[in-house]
Amino acid sequence: MRGLPRPPQRGQAREWLGQGASIGAQHPPAAAAFRPLIELQHLERNPQALLDGRRPPNPVRFQYTLLRGRLRVARAWQRHRPTASATTAVLPAPRPAGADHGPHAPQGLLPPAPHPGGAVPPTLSGRQLPQHVAIIMDGNGRWAEAQGQLRSAGHHAGQHALRDVIYGAPEIGLPCLSVYAFSTENRARPAAEVETVLHVVSNGLDMNTEELWQRDVQLRWSGSSNDGRLPADLVDRIRRAARATRERTGLILNVCLNYGGRHELTHAARALARQAAHGGLDPDRITPRHLARHLYQPDLPDVDLLIRTSGEQRTSNFRPWQSTYAEYLFLDPLWPDIDRTHLWAAISTYATRDRRFGTTK
Ligand code: FPP
Repeated sequence: MRGLPRPPQRGQAREWLGQGASIGAQHPPAAAAFRPLIELQHLERNPQALLDGRRPPNPVRFQYTLLRGRLRVARAWQRHRPTASATTAVLPAPRPAGADHGPHAPQGLLPPAPHPGGAVPPTLSGRQLPQHVAIIMDGNGRWAEAQGQLRSAGHHAGQHALRDVIYGAPEIGLPCLSVYAFSTENRARPAAEVETVLHVVSNGLDMNTEELWQRDVQLRWSGSSNDGRLPADLVDRIRRAARATRERTGLILNVCLNYGGRHELTHAARALARQAAHGGLDPDRITPRHLARHLYQPDLPDVDLLIRTSGEQRTSNFRPWQSTYAEYLFLDPLWPDIDRTHLWAAISTYATRDRRFGTTK
């Protein structure tokens, strides 16, 4: 091929190369093989697009290159058996369980505050630890009512419980924690309660006053940011906190706020439809990986352990895609009665589970 393709075609080429690059982020060894394959498959369907009107390549040479690409893919997958995860962790290596985190804390950041009762985490090996725990923090309202208090008191108490659990996560060596703070369905609650929950969340995200942000915690946000249902100052606050903490590696805290699993999947489907409509994606070649790339925080690993408190046994539209192969644990205590020792006990139970991802041993 002589000369560069015309600008719109260069844009198309960049998009295809980009697809190869994001596969690389998910499965680096296969990326090198996928990239030429993707480009060649596009060429196969539309050879003129990159050739700027010139003759397509010699068919023998074309088939030979295609075959070589396919062989490289097969070899790459043989060497690196895929897990059930549609996305791959890019998380820091967990710190040794039970280690003193003082010296590990990056400069200027404090280690997690110790458990008030002096509890220390059990020692589990890296292989026994989940990469990603997701929690449905349920029972704030019932906790408050049982104490003869307003439901708002339950949400405030829930925020204290969450802080303790967050401190316990890096102590045991957990790299990623997702919490369900406010769902798209929670918006149907009475306005005063919605306001309270969002107020509690907003206080929790205040980097000037919330002690959590003096620790090595990186904030992520999963949820709808453009439906106008969150106050602008809260959106601003969460974005600022995410920016300010993005270099931190002690724990990734993924706050699911204004989040709904069906919304998330719909949002991803829309993005794929848009790509297909512009000719950048063949609908017949859409795979789970294409879709996973458009979910919120796609670089986080799938959920290994999903915990719900308050004795309820349902998942309520929480991370349906990412939890497909999660282990589930339903705990009886109401969320405000939870602390880091419950997280450690849940992780110890997880360590005894036999995960097979639909295969046999
Ligand atoms: C569910 O309990 C809890 C919530 C809807 C709110 C959870 C939010 C927090 C704990 C604050 C999180 C803060 C940050 C900074 C992420 P419920 O009200 O449904 O309880 P019920 O089932 O007893 O009524």
